[in-house]
Amino acid sequence: STIDWDAEAAQKGGYDHYMRKEIHEQPSALRQALGSRVDVNAGTASLDVDFPQGYLESIQEIQLLAMGTSYYAGRYAATLFESLADVRATPIMASEYSYTGGRDPWRTLSIAVTQSGETADTLGALREASAAGARTMGVTNTLGSSVTREADDALFIRAGPEIGVAATKTFASQVSTLALLAIAVGRERGALSAAAAREHLEDLTGLPGAIQQVLDEEDRIRETAHELADSDAFFFVGREYGYPVALEGALKLKEISYDHAEGFASGELKHGPLALVTPETPVLAVLTDGAHPQETLNNVAEVQARGAPAIGVTSGTLEGGTLDEAFEVPDAGIFEPLVANVYFQLFAYHIANAKGRSIDKPRNLAKSVTVE
Ligand code: G6P
Repeated sequence: STIDWDAEAAQKGGYDHYMRKEIHEQPSALRQALGSRVDVNAGTASLDVDFPQGYLESIQEIQLLAMGTSYYAGRYAATLFESLADVRATPIMASEYSYTGGRDPWRTLSIAVTQSGETADTLGALREASAAGARTMGVTNTLGSSVTREADDALFIRAGPEIGVAATKTFASQVSTLALLAIAVGRERGALSAAAAREHLEDLTGLPGAIQQVLDEEDRIRETAHELADSDAFFFVGREYGYPVALEGALKLKEISYDHAEGFASGELKHGPLALVTPETPVLAVLTDGAHPQETLNNVAEVQARGAPAIGVTSGTLEGGTLDEAFEVPDAGIFEPLVANVYFQLFAYHIANAKGRSIDKPRNLAKSVTVE
């Protein structure tokens, strides 16, 4: 009925799709996630989680258990824990958790990363970790969800409701919230200086503004998306923090456009994927800080030599190599790949939209998968 349509249009706040609305909500979602928790001058983050005295120093390993987009956020976070807190951190696809072993659960913090807090694979892994003696934590967007009841601690990403089946704003909020935890753990363990913590916190609090600048470039990324929409396949590449973003960029595109898309570590290209590269397979590369842009650019040159169009998200200048199209992100240190991801979200959105796909409810997919 007309009334339902009006109500839905109102909820979408003038956007055609929840997904596009939620992509545009990232600056405000991140302000919610970070705002009251960060004290940049003091170089500290407070997370309303009470760990037992001395617990953080005793951790031997942090596991990030998750599926889908949350798993890629977990991969980003694992690298943050290793480099900011000097603690071994392992992202584990939750559905594979039962088949991994050789750990010392008593000194392990197992973190379930789950927007909904209801993903069966993720809850299953969390229960196993808990039964084995690990301390558990849920990082979630959903108050009162199963993960908040079952984990020893809960940490909220405060992104606000996400309706689009394909996760967007929650990825940025998950990574940023976990970054605060990595900074807190790094400070507590003496692995991160106050000055370094301040720098990362400054980069984090700058993210809403940095992402807004990317959103302001939407017309240009839409044009590029339309030009490339009929390609045979899409490859996304990056290194370090750029790698999970490459994986997430490909996931977004396949979920909503139904096009074949894959993410690779850029160094992986020459070990097989190059055989797939043709002039009809554009490559999208993360070429920012935190993603070893110069090395990645060399890998991108290899795909260009096979005629593939190369689209790069850059910050600062790179030597040699000419991208077919370049998009810029403002300075955000190791969080630049997270900002680059917003271009990939918009790219996926505009390809899917050009093809008339069911963007908010892609075929065969559900927002929250409660079966294993
Ligand atoms: C489903 C959704 C994905 C989501 C994944 C994990 O597959 O379609 O968008 O990333 O579940 O969901 P969670 O709620 O655990 O983050």
